[in-house]
Amino acid sequence: MSQVETYPVPQQIADNAWVDEPKYNKMYQQSIDDPEGFWAEHGKRIHWFKPFTQVKDVHFGADDVHIRWFYDGTTNAAYNCIDQHLPHKKDDTAIIWEPDDPRENARHISFGELHEEVSRLANGLKALGVGKGDRVSIYMPMIPEAATAMLACARIGAVHSVVFGGFSPDSLASRIQDAEAKVVITADEGLRGGRKIPLKQNTDEAVANCPSVQAVVTVKRTGGGIQWHDGRDHWYHEVLEKASSDCPAEEMSAEDPLFILYTSGSTGKPKGVLHTTGGYLVHTSMTHQYVFDYHDGEVFWCTADVGWITGHSYIVYGPLANGATTVIFEGVPNYPNASRHWEVIDKHKVNIYYTAPTAIRALMREGNGPVEKTSRDSLRILGTVGEPINPEAWRWYHEVIGKGKCPIVDTWWQTETGGILITPLPGATPAKPGSATLPFFGVKPVLVDNEGNHLEGATHGNLCIADSWPGQMRTIHGDHERFVQTYFSMYPGRYFTGDGARRDEDGYFWITGRVDDVLNVSGHRMGTAEIESALVLHDKVAEAAVVGYPHDLKGQGIYAYVILNAGEEETEALRKELVDICKKEIGPIAKPDLVQFASGLPKTRSGKIMRRILRKIAEDDYSSLGDTSTLADPGVVDDLIENRQNRS
Ligand code: WTA
Repeated sequence: MSQVETYPVPQQIADNAWVDEPKYNKMYQQSIDDPEGFWAEHGKRIHWFKPFTQVKDVHFGADDVHIRWFYDGTTNAAYNCIDQHLPHKKDDTAIIWEPDDPRENARHISFGELHEEVSRLANGLKALGVGKGDRVSIYMPMIPEAATAMLACARIGAVHSVVFGGFSPDSLASRIQDAEAKVVITADEGLRGGRKIPLKQNTDEAVANCPSVQAVVTVKRTGGGIQWHDGRDHWYHEVLEKASSDCPAEEMSAEDPLFILYTSGSTGKPKGVLHTTGGYLVHTSMTHQYVFDYHDGEVFWCTADVGWITGHSYIVYGPLANGATTVIFEGVPNYPNASRHWEVIDKHKVNIYYTAPTAIRALMREGNGPVEKTSRDSLRILGTVGEPINPEAWRWYHEVIGKGKCPIVDTWWQTETGGILITPLPGATPAKPGSATLPFFGVKPVLVDNEGNHLEGATHGNLCIADSWPGQMRTIHGDHERFVQTYFSMYPGRYFTGDGARRDEDGYFWITGRVDDVLNVSGHRMGTAEIESALVLHDKVAEAAVVGYPHDLKGQGIYAYVILNAGEEETEALRKELVDICKKEIGPIAKPDLVQFASGLPKTRSGKIMRRILRKIAEDDYSSLGDTSTLADPGVVDDLIENRQNRS
């Protein structure tokens, strides 16, 4: 092991874990030497109606890609998450719901109750005309009904498309249109940190432009006033009342779609990442068990929003497929005060806590006081996801939150990967703060240079995965060509992640961030092109270029260079309008932190914007601007530097 600060596996954890170091090495080797045999065995971990006999059919070609796993088997995701547990866990808690306001009562929903509600909603959706293969958009706050809605779709073979509740009506509309959803499930209002979010009103605005939508189902969360559209609108509780609770789970082929989830890429509009049923469930349940060393009866809390892949895989499908108790938290880490997460951990005796580095950094700023007021004795395992964690935050998480006794799993993965791919296992992998460490079973990470040459040993490069894994996305909804183009054309024969990474002398991976034009702001993924498109909608804007820059709290901040139309005045009021237009078009998460009015952008003579230079200026790093002599107008660079905005 290298000299870098290393945290050994606590003996007590290794002794009781599913996997210790020798077992990891053995299982990993098996999974690489004989993937068919390995997955034939582990594919059995979920419940199949008809067992599969075929394990894997994968082709990563430069112009043709197909990916199938367990493809002659049949199963159902909702059956796996609920019904299979009924004989021995009917009265055990499946979901603990913690509301935004700690004075409101938490809810405990048993597997039996979840079964009844999901079945009723499933029948209700059928009555609204939803059948197998139809799409349903879900635009919800963090309430148990969000999970119920996902599982009700899965139960009848409808494909859900969850849209993050922080997205604007326009973003919602484009996602509903792309999926051609028949039904939208929402709530009257969301509640976060004491603030109300007008979800139904946003849905009304969006649906006005979505001819595919036949019905809107609304959960009454706050009782706030909403508009009602007769014939189209239905209350969630009334749909349940009218429906029977007898709804056998539809028998789905392993490769039938389970959900679409939109995510940002470096170009164009967000892509509808499509995941299917069997492989996704095998991967999410298996990673949930091994990566978090989940043991029966433990309480698992993933703080992500269900609108992101982390919420899909590690609030809903992974934990529930394993019969775990999963926590759904409606609120935010600093409301009503900075102890809230730690209080929730004590209140619900959380054993495994999985959050984002940005939340850790924000809470670290509040000092140790808010943490030390609480006991956190129930905690056993800690996890992070979404962005690289800086070693300082890692150590604070380890020492202060986990009192030095809880292993931290820094899990690297993506919307496209369905579940975790590079990660420590708590009982097996010595940790190095800031490293996602080693591949999960069956995962073959490779580093390549820009020409696609395979790089060996300790080095850095573009991170690709050399073969498929069961939870891999299968296509982009409605655009298979874009799928092939985006992920498989750059480095043929391999899946390209869009991330850069370093591999150290122990084979540990250190993710260095995106190498494409995708930003990661507080763990939220956004394309620079999306923000630029929003900015140029303003009638005073001629052109815009957006880059990321290092931000202490958010990981990355959004820096926008804006060129105004001739004669327009550069005012603070206009700067605010530009921030607002991003909020309106995309959502609050897309608001630029800094807006610089520029007279020109650094472009090559062929008109290509040299983003590298814009990034350097935003980073305040002028030492390596590189050769600017090839620019059409080298003078713009001095002008940009002179007028740069101060970083926070
Ligand atoms: C980044 C979230 C470093 C990465 C599950 C990836 C990470 C993108 C880590 C995917 C990590 C995720 N360390 N970077 N542990 N986890 N990322 O699709 O850049 O929202 O490509 O999926 O987040 O973001 P997405």
